[in-house]
Amino acid sequence: MNIDHLKLLVCPVSQRPLRISDASEVESGVVMSGSLICDQNGKEYPIIGGIPRFVERENYASGFGLEWVNHAKTQYDSYSGINASEKRFYEQTHWGRDLKGQLVLEVGSGSGRFTEQAALTGATVVSLDYSYAVEANFKSNGHRSNVLIVQADIFAMPFPRGCFDKVFCFGMLQHTPDPKAAFNALPAFLKPGGMLCADIYKATLLRTLLNTKHYVRPFTRNIEPEKLYAAVVKYIDFMWPLASLIRKLPKGHGINWRLLIADYSSLGLKGEILKEWAYLDTFDMLSPKYDLHVSEQTFRSWVVESGLSDIETELTGHGVVARARKAA
Ligand SMILES: C[S@@+](CC[C@H](N)C(=O)[O-])C[C@H]1O[C@@H](n2cnc3c(N)ncnc32)[C@H](O)[C@@H]1O
Repeated sequence: MNIDHLKLLVCPVSQRPLRISDASEVESGVVMSGSLICDQNGKEYPIIGGIPRFVERENYASGFGLEWVNHAKTQYDSYSGINASEKRFYEQTHWGRDLKGQLVLEVGSGSGRFTEQAALTGATVVSLDYSYAVEANFKSNGHRSNVLIVQADIFAMPFPRGCFDKVFCFGMLQHTPDPKAAFNALPAFLKPGGMLCADIYKATLLRTLLNTKHYVRPFTRNIEPEKLYAAVVKYIDFMWPLASLIRKLPKGHGINWRLLIADYSSLGLKGEILKEWAYLDTFDMLSPKYDLHVSEQTFRSWVVESGLSDIETELTGHGVVARARKAA
């Protein structure tokens, strides 16, 4: 972590500032190892591999750690050659491209494909994830002087309240044990007048009935991530010749999804990259410990109850997105 970013962190228990102790491997103001100490309660949080850690490295989200370390670049636009991450970031947030001078919080960052997008706006970006996916994000974005990456829990975030101009949370609420409580953890970190953007998987009866993962994940979510990942790779490799034929049929990619082959050919992906996305997203379908889908109406009611204003909700290809503002 960059020493200048210390002021963005507090002890998640006492809410008091932290100090750096035993800093070693300091290179141009970046502390690669050491600890953060709260003088009020004596709690100590290690900095490992340049990343402040407020939770154990391994936890219920370790499957995501494995997924994003194995696929650290797969969904980055610069790697895949399509602009899916940039498009989703701007289409969902409706934020401008120049956020210089603003402080942005990203919750549930995974490999950091949206961290990159937020950082390119010139904002200072604080990016949090519960899993060791933060290590993949650090490899891609840790060199940026406007990015701070931490491993922490949405339910105990180590930041001062009321200090962020913008907060976004993509693709993660459904993967927590209590998505409504996770959503409710976000507004406290916004400044008055600050903007929030979050999304969640959408639920409809038909989608639930037709989505094969709902029948299979209850069995696969308890398999050790390494074993499940190896099985997914074998399955995709075995099915790929057939999937490639099915894809040529009208709506063929939809049939592939029913066969538990994450098929992103509709995004224009081809060849090996298409297959990489299939490994990644098939594992992503089957591994999460938690995966709750909600209706647009339910998600909207959470935003309304949170007291935010200027609320907009919208159905997208990824689920339901909500945008809202904290009263000034
Ligand atoms: C499907 S990934 C989405 C990653 C990224 N936002 C994207 O869309 O590419 C969900 C992420 O949420 C994180 N997550 C799950 N529970 C969390 C929690 N309690 N606090 C913070 N992050 C959590 C997981 O570790 C995982 O990286």
